[in-house]
Amino acid sequence: MKHFSPAADNNKDHILQALLPYLSGDLSVLEIGSGSGQHALHLAQALPNLTWQPTDRGAGFPDLVDNIGAYGGDNISPPALLDLADDIWPVTRVDRIYSANVLHIVPEPLGERLLRNASKVLSERGFLMLYGPFKYGGNFTTPSNSEFDQWLKARNPESGVRDFEWVEHLASQTGLHLTADLAMPANNQLLIFGA
Ligand SMILES: C[S@@+](CC[C@H](N)C(=O)[O-])C[C@H]1O[C@@H](n2cnc3c(N)ncnc32)[C@H](O)[C@@H]1O
Repeated sequence: MKHFSPAADNNKDHILQALLPYLSGDLSVLEIGSGSGQHALHLAQALPNLTWQPTDRGAGFPDLVDNIGAYGGDNISPPALLDLADDIWPVTRVDRIYSANVLHIVPEPLGERLLRNASKVLSERGFLMLYGPFKYGGNFTTPSNSEFDQWLKARNPESGVRDFEWVEHLASQTGLHLTADLAMPANNQLLIFGA
């Protein structure tokens, strides 16, 4: 496995269990910012009813292609390029969109594009599923998330743990409504928005 992420390995099964109620039936899934592909591989292997499209951009993309090629099964498509800066998405219709640990990495305008474009391609009764740390009422849920935010901003001032309310407001502007806000291990959340 290239570009292996210990964090992705630790949280992948918790994410699978939490998402199970939203992943029954034959469904197409678009993942944004797949990274190493560990989540794609774990969820697609566990749920053969899914057809999973991993995506990413940048220097890590070849490693994602290699990982999916080496370990992926029939229900994972070869990774596609998706840069949130471009508004060019590899699908025009999809049942589920999953993105983990991306909103706090990309600048806010790209987070806005994620929400806006997601609402355009999600099928009726589709779900957008966002995983990562969030602030509530301007407050970090834990001191470690505050430290993480400082670390992110030192790397890139445009990164940072986002406000839950900002995400929910953007989603509602695009016609997506909050269905669930699930507390996850390691001070993360899973936000589920319905189309
Ligand atoms: C912290 S990693 C998360 C990887 C994986 N989803 C996980 O949870 O382990 C952030 C991901 O966002 C991707 N990313 C950064 N900028 C992006 C952009 N403009 N468009 C799409 N993906 C981007 C990175 O390439 C990276 O894979």
